Amino acid sequence: MNPVFTTPLSPQAKKVLMLGSGELGKEVVISLQRLGVEVHAADRYDHAPAMQVAHAAHVLDMTDAAALTQLIETIQPDLVVPEIEAIATEALVTLEAAGVQIIPTAEATLLTMNRRGIRTLAAEELGLPTSNYRFADCYQSMKDACLEVGFPCFVKPVMSSSGKGQSRLLSDTDIDLAWEVASSGGRVKTSEVIVEAGIDFDYEITLITVRAVGAHETVETHFCDPIGHRQEGGDYVESWQPMPMSEAALGEAQRIAKAVTDRIMGFGVFGVELFVKGDRVWFSEVSPRPHDTGLTTLATQFQSQFELHARAILGLAVDTSRHSIGASAVIKADQAMQSPSFTGVQAALSTPNTDLRLFGKPEAHLGRRMGVVLARGETIDRARQTASKAASLIQVVPADAAQ
Ligand SMILES: Nc1ncnc2c1ncn2[C@@H]1O[C@H](COP(=O)(O)OP(=O)(O)OP(=O)(O)O)[C@@H](O)[C@H]1O
Ligand SMILES: [Mg+2]
Repeated sequence: MNPVFTTPLSPQAKKVLMLGSGELGKEVVISLQRLGVEVHAADRYDHAPAMQVAHAAHVLDMTDAAALTQLIETIQPDLVVPEIEAIATEALVTLEAAGVQIIPTAEATLLTMNRRGIRTLAAEELGLPTSNYRFADCYQSMKDACLEVGFPCFVKPVMSSSGKGQSRLLSDTDIDLAWEVASSGGRVKTSEVIVEAGIDFDYEITLITVRAVGAHETVETHFCDPIGHRQEGGDYVESWQPMPMSEAALGEAQRIAKAVTDRIMGFGVFGVELFVKGDRVWFSEVSPRPHDTGLTTLATQFQSQFELHARAILGLAVDTSRHSIGASAVIKADQAMQSPSFTGVQAALSTPNTDLRLFGKPEAHLGRRMGVVLARGETIDRARQTASKAASLIQVVPADAAQ
C-alpha cells in the first residue's frame, strides 16, 4: 500500500465513508480531517456526532442493503469504515468483492456483528480460552442451556451491544425474566441468545491492538498498554490506563489478541476484551474498531486509539506509546430530552489535569452516554478519582433548566 494524500472536496480527494457517526467515529473523523482526508459520515439520524465534523452527512437505514450499496456507489469512497455493528454486512461482502476496501475486512464485520460468529471462531477454530457457552433459540432451549452451563451465568442476545438485552442470572428463578429481557432488548428481532458461564475474574481489560503496515510492506501488530474498566449493567462507566498485570497474564492477553486479530486480518484498531484471574486470561469479545473504554487514550497516549485507527487504515506507521497515567468517566443522561444542556462544566474543568468531550448528540434518553471526562494523574487511583469527581459535577439537563 502506498498512501496518496490529496485535497478534500477535489476530484482527486481521498475519501473515507464512516458507517456510524457516534462519539467514537467523531474522534476518528477529526483524526482523518487532520490528514486532509475527505470524510463522509452516515447514520440513521441527522446531526449525529461524527456528522458534525465531517465534510458531508448521509442519513439512511444502514441495515438496508440496497440503500447502503447505493450510497457507496454514489460516493465511491477509497475506504469504508464501519463504526457500529448494525449494518447490512452482506452488502459489504458484495462490495468488497467488487473492489471497495472495507475496514478491516467485510468478513470481520460479518463475524463480529453476531456473537455466534466471533465466539465460535475464538473458541472452536482458534482454541482460545473463553467462558463455557451454549446457543439457544427458544425459551426451552435457553432454560436447558442455563441449567447445563450453571449459575451464575449471562444471557445475551447474539445481536446486541452496550449490555442491551443482557442479564446475569444467579439461579433458575432468574430464567423467565432473562428470556423476556433478551427477547425485547436485542438489536434486531431475533430470539437467538448465547448463554455464558460467569467468569469469576479479578479484573477485566481491553487490549487495544493495532494492525498497521510495517517495514517492507509487512503487517505489524502493536499493543497499547492494557485498559482496565468497570461496567454497570453491561455498559462501561469508567476506564483507566495502564491496568497493572502480571507479566504472564499480559503475555497471555497479547497472545490471545494476536491470534484473534491475525485471523480477522485487515488494517486498523481492534478492542480485544479479556477477563483476567491471576495469570489466567479468557477471551470475551472483540470490536474491529476503536473501543468505548479506549476513550482514555485521548488523555494517555501520543496517538490516541482514534489517531491509531486513522493512521493504520491509511497505511501509515503507528506509535502506541503512552505518556501519562489516565482515566475516563462517562456522563450519562438520566431522562429523555431534546437538545440537552450541560451544567457544571466550568467547575469540572477547573480541576487540574482534566479534559472533556461533549458528544453533541441531539437527543438524550435514560442511560445514553452524552460525554466523557478524561483525567491524568500521578497514580491510577488519583486519575480515576479526578475523572469520576469531575464527571459527577456535570449534569445533563433540559435546555430551559440550564439558565
Ligand atoms: N461470561 C461472563 N463472565 C463474567 N462477566 C461477564 C461475562 N459476560 C459479560 N460479563 C460482564 O458484562 C460486561 C458486558 O458484556 P459484553 O461485553 O459481552 O456485552 P456487550 O453488550 O457487548 O457490551 P459492550 O458493547 O459494552 O462491550 C462485560 O464487560 C463483563 O463485565
Ligand atoms: Mg463488551
